[in-house]
Amino acid sequence: MSAPKKLYIKTYGCQMNVYDSERMAEALAGYESTDTPDDADMILLNTCHIREKAAEKVYSELGRYKGLKADKPDLKIGVAGCVAQAEGEEIMKRQPMVDLVVGPQSYHRLPELEAKARSGQKALDTDFPEEDKFEHLKSRPKAKRGPTAFLTVQEGCDKFCAFCVVPYTRGAEVSRPADRIVSEARDLVERGVREITLLGQNVNAYHGHERGLAGLIRALAEIEDLKRIRFTTSHPNDMDDDLIAAHGDCEKLMPYLHLPVQAGSDKILKRMNRQHTRDDYFRIIDRLREVRPDLHLSGDFIVGFPEETEEDFAQTLDLIERVKYGSAFSFKYSTRPGTPAAERDQLPESVKDERLQRLQALLVSQQRSLQDAMVGKTVNVLFEKPGRLPGQMVGKSEYLHAVHVESDTLIPGDLRSVRIVESGPNSLKGVLN
Ligand code: SAH
Ligand code: SF4
Ligand code: F3S
Repeated sequence: MSAPKKLYIKTYGCQMNVYDSERMAEALAGYESTDTPDDADMILLNTCHIREKAAEKVYSELGRYKGLKADKPDLKIGVAGCVAQAEGEEIMKRQPMVDLVVGPQSYHRLPELEAKARSGQKALDTDFPEEDKFEHLKSRPKAKRGPTAFLTVQEGCDKFCAFCVVPYTRGAEVSRPADRIVSEARDLVERGVREITLLGQNVNAYHGHERGLAGLIRALAEIEDLKRIRFTTSHPNDMDDDLIAAHGDCEKLMPYLHLPVQAGSDKILKRMNRQHTRDDYFRIIDRLREVRPDLHLSGDFIVGFPEETEEDFAQTLDLIERVKYGSAFSFKYSTRPGTPAAERDQLPESVKDERLQRLQALLVSQQRSLQDAMVGKTVNVLFEKPGRLPGQMVGKSEYLHAVHVESDTLIPGDLRSVRIVESGPNSLKGVLN
């Protein structure tokens, strides 16, 4: 028997791409994974198209493989993910060394595409097929795994925010049936997983369970050895009553919610086609905090959207002041071809830069004070791996803070009560209770 071929996958973008990369590696059964491109027989870039820089990274990475391909003519290079979907054949025109292009909804066809590429032909599939890719993927391997896992439950988006490529790259909203998700979750738990993060571009629009995402969360909470449930990313308009209530009464649902608002001025929210006002957002947060006062919030912000005035931007800062985020991601608006906002008059780069700096300074200081406020408190930590120093283990609190503890007895997967004694630059230090 010949040695298995080696597969190197590089993942960009969101957590869903992390999940997809795992499933793509599993789909290519004749390969074993390698963590360097140097000895690979196939390189697959799982790409992101969300901002211009993200897409450009792919081409510069491909440029780096020229030498490898020259030394090893059998090396196959593939592009998967959202750039593959958005640019399709263009990728092969711009980078002729690419053998294979596969979109996020057709990667169950990877084995055939790989065979086609091996036979020397160009292989391309960016369909949005009728069939559900998950039903056509091989069943997942039984190997032991770490304590945390992602699990995609919903894909695609029907919201069409004026800045965003996701509805075009991932297609329409589709939910996986709840029974399939519960059985995949059971399987993950049998393999050692203790915390599952449910993924979707609009995860709270999930409708594969008759009671929506809250129904699915409650069904998953029945799995005894599953200790923690999280979900991301949510849209404010899909935070229904049941899901809000679940934050108060479902113990396994962690008190941390990523709820992007993007901007704080009603004018900009409208121009972004977000379909809600700043007050709607405040109301949702008030209701969540009523049932779960210790909830930590996280968000995404875009600065420098077309027509954003200094006054509009001040409204975003004001919204942040009121909400107080535990963490957040913020970006300068980036024009994306084919989206409505790309056609509008753009703000100068210098204005975007300056606003991003002010916004990030505020977010960092909030993050800092929420993290520092953990000192003296008791949290639950799910330990994931050894820390950098000997005798140290690191895990995450329910609020997603990284926590270091000195201990010789802890192992990955342990869930323990920890008293926080110190707040460092990026993590907390604690002692076992
Ligand atoms: N589905 C999620 C987010 C998907 S994209 C949601 O609706 O919130 C992740 C984040 O990237 C977005 O929340 C937004 O803040 C940012 N983003 C999307 N398109 C962008 C663009 N054209 N320029 C800058 N940031 C963008
Ligand atoms: Fe993009 Fe808006 Fe859909 Fe989120 S809700 S994926 S930002 S279009
Ligand atoms: Fe990027 Fe696609 Fe995710 S564009 S953020 S990889 S859905």
